[in-house]
Amino acid sequence: MFGAATSAYQIEGAAQEDGRGPSIWDTLVRQRPALARPHSPAVAANHYHRYRDDVALAKALGLQAYRFSIAWPRVLPTGRGALNLRGLDFYRRLVGDLLDAGIEPVPTLFHWDLPQPLQDEGGFMRRGVADDFARYVDVVVQALGGHVKRWITLNEPWEFAFLGHGMGWHAPGHKRPWNFLKIMHHQLLAHAKAVEVIRARVPAAQVGITLSQTPIHPSRPGPADQAAADFGNDFFNRVTLDPLLRGHYPERLWRRFAGFRPRVEADDLARIAAPLDFIGINNYQRERVRSAPWIPLLRGWLQPDPAIGPEGRTAMGWEIYPEGLHEVLTWLRTEYGNPPVIVTENGAAFDDVLANGAVHDPRRIDYLRRYLAQVARALAEGCDVRGYFAWSLLDNFEWQEGFTKRFGLIHVDYATQARTVKDSGWWYRDFIAQTVGPLTAAAAAATAPP
Ligand code: FCB
Repeated sequence: MFGAATSAYQIEGAAQEDGRGPSIWDTLVRQRPALARPHSPAVAANHYHRYRDDVALAKALGLQAYRFSIAWPRVLPTGRGALNLRGLDFYRRLVGDLLDAGIEPVPTLFHWDLPQPLQDEGGFMRRGVADDFARYVDVVVQALGGHVKRWITLNEPWEFAFLGHGMGWHAPGHKRPWNFLKIMHHQLLAHAKAVEVIRARVPAAQVGITLSQTPIHPSRPGPADQAAADFGNDFFNRVTLDPLLRGHYPERLWRRFAGFRPRVEADDLARIAAPLDFIGINNYQRERVRSAPWIPLLRGWLQPDPAIGPEGRTAMGWEIYPEGLHEVLTWLRTEYGNPPVIVTENGAAFDDVLANGAVHDPRRIDYLRRYLAQVARALAEGCDVRGYFAWSLLDNFEWQEGFTKRFGLIHVDYATQARTVKDSGWWYRDFIAQTVGPLTAAAAAATAPP
């Protein structure tokens, strides 16, 4: 299954229309007005109004599936209680149009836009937020459950916990790294309760969660950086995989966070580890880590390799490292029992130029080609990869980078909202067309009775 991904806050706009309530991202942007210049995320790519055109473009690219997110504050403007039918109706129409276009809708139920009123009560520091999430999910699943086959509960709980609550780069903008495990546990609990709700409402549904997975390598040879990398791997990667797939937090991490641990009730971890139908993996780059014993809790920092210049990096400064995706997929196979995996995000920002109605972006084509080759390699070696979604369908609001970073297969001119398919978009269309037929035939042959 080949598709492309987006998220609600990054593309929808219409921030104050049809009864949508405020989210923590609206609040953060108000506190940091530079993020709304020269273009406002309250308008973003105006997808709320242009979704029909965007679905038509997804169809023109031959996408088999489209991953988007549902904005909690559009459905329940204050987070719980009164349902906003107009908000829910937007997603009904979107899902209907996608199905009419022959594109599978793959919604994510939470991609970081928590309703502000829930944040005012403590947000994900409050254990009860998991019950609020479950009730919201119940409303959405009742409305869309008959049309959606595959659900994703959360997007990247690590980023939400650490970038949002530890570093303060993302909403809600807190700089309290000691809360990391608490925020993580409450998210995983919210995930667990959502899974239970979806299974109860739609037994045939497939349910998964999307996790960022980033290879963490030592910056320099030797035991000190290796130890920092091992801990980094617990902190970035295993902190979600271990509870979800093994029913416990990584022991080293748990010890290190003594004094800053969440309250874990008797059946929490069993619920969190309930079987999933797939694990969503987001991978963009790798990180190098260096030992730094004086840094509390983490005792290491990220140290980009100075030998890798701009030609080896994307416009985000992220190292282009296609083997890393293979490494992550292989790791899931060898260490975590080879669960079904969907690559739910992978892609690159570059400084695209729109000229004469075209965007020539050979570096993005090269990036996609090389990462997809690593997916093929992992697949051939037996990794259970079920799908791949390019990030992103459209240029969009890249969180703390505002609109300065363009990840889209489709260029958006924010002044006019005109869409232009980039060369990489057409390349991806051709790739899908050439790949799907042979893959389907191979799968049919593999499952055919002898
Ligand atoms: C991921 C996010 C996604 C997008 C990409 C570039 O961390 O899930 O929304 O911003 O990075």
